[in-house]
Amino acid sequence: MSFQPPKGTDDIIAPESLLWRELLRSWDVWAERYGYPLVMTPLFEATDLFERGVGDETEVVSKQMYTFSDKGGRSLTLRPEGTAGVVRAFLDSGVKGAWKGSYSGPMFRYERPQAGRRRQFWQVGVEYLDAEGFAADAEVIELGFRFLGAVGVPGLQVLLNSLGDETCRPDYVELLRSYLDERRDKLCEDSTAAIGTNPLRVLDCKVCAPLLVDAPAMKDHLCRPCADHYGGVKSSLNRLEIPYVEDGRLVRGLDYYTRTAFEYIATDLEAAQNAVGGGGRYDGLAETIGGRRAPGVGFALGVDRIVLASNQQPETMIDVYVVSESGPADALVAASRLRQDGLRVALDTESRSVKAQFKEAARSNAPAVLVVSGDTGAVDIRLGEERAEVDIAEVSEWLEAHL
Ligand code: HAM
Repeated sequence: MSFQPPKGTDDIIAPESLLWRELLRSWDVWAERYGYPLVMTPLFEATDLFERGVGDETEVVSKQMYTFSDKGGRSLTLRPEGTAGVVRAFLDSGVKGAWKGSYSGPMFRYERPQAGRRRQFWQVGVEYLDAEGFAADAEVIELGFRFLGAVGVPGLQVLLNSLGDETCRPDYVELLRSYLDERRDKLCEDSTAAIGTNPLRVLDCKVCAPLLVDAPAMKDHLCRPCADHYGGVKSSLNRLEIPYVEDGRLVRGLDYYTRTAFEYIATDLEAAQNAVGGGGRYDGLAETIGGRRAPGVGFALGVDRIVLASNQQPETMIDVYVVSESGPADALVAASRLRQDGLRVALDTESRSVKAQFKEAARSNAPAVLVVSGDTGAVDIRLGEERAEVDIAEVSEWLEAHL
């Protein structure tokens, strides 16, 4: 039997998992700073939700979904992304008025696996619903930017575009279609096929990119309200001092976007997986899945890619290693006291020699080592060059003062 996880999935164990835990903790802190409480939705949903919400012509829906029938004959799909499920949950809750939710969890896409492109991957993200103003977009973009900066993604860049709405997009799509039609012979097979169905997708084609440098851009053909909204987003980002690059070709891979679209790029990573996150506005999504109008904006960040990009060393996880000269039972009791005081403590449960325990203590990188002998109250603390004999009841206080 092979012990490898299924293709395109990973086991994440220490020390790498220490980084993950730090990142996910930091995410919770940042999400709360911007007022996003946790929202948790099922890992699987009715297939129809993604077909309608994300769009059945997108690659995600047409090629990458893990779809199955359950024993009751329902067609279900492991969520390939979080937005559709959160919007469904919001509609189901019946809540009205500005509503925020943040999430963190695995998503599933049948992709060709490579570094930073997995079949099970982890996203953290936010959705802000019943929010129409440009300030909501700017606030959302800021949150992602500040979080990615705080966790140390180097070479961070924000790409920004506007995709218009149902008023201005249809005319633009026709304009783009005739531009592409004139170049039909030179485009790749997939792009040629997309001219009829979804010409915006062609803008995303890496192969055809050199042929499309002078293609008309949506941001130059916006209706007045969309142009004002886009202008508002840009001026807010300027005032928040968030640098961004306008990219008229940024179309995103999901069909629900209107107006603002953005991506966070880690320019230090390989181009194929340097998008560490993306998002945008989706004013029509709630209606597309059969609900009332509920304009919204949000993003999701790929944690697998952030870990790849952020290059950080996991921090030591332990404050104190307890070495026992009288066996593990005494170490366990001493450790328990310290743990109840909130310290992070490790010990040897396998009756190894004192020498071996000191070796393990050094390997653990714990700043402090406590040496216990019998169940006496006094213990020996070693912290760097410092040594002290302290009553076990006072160890936490002593460490707090010296660590
Ligand atoms: P997305 O661009 O499809 O957007 O995914 C967001 C991020 O998830 C990507 O930028 C990438 O970092 C990560 N990601 C996507 N696929 C994979 C994969 N196969 N392996 C590793 N990482 C991956 C969405 O999912 C939208 N729901 C974002 C959103 C929220 N828009 C509005 N609200």
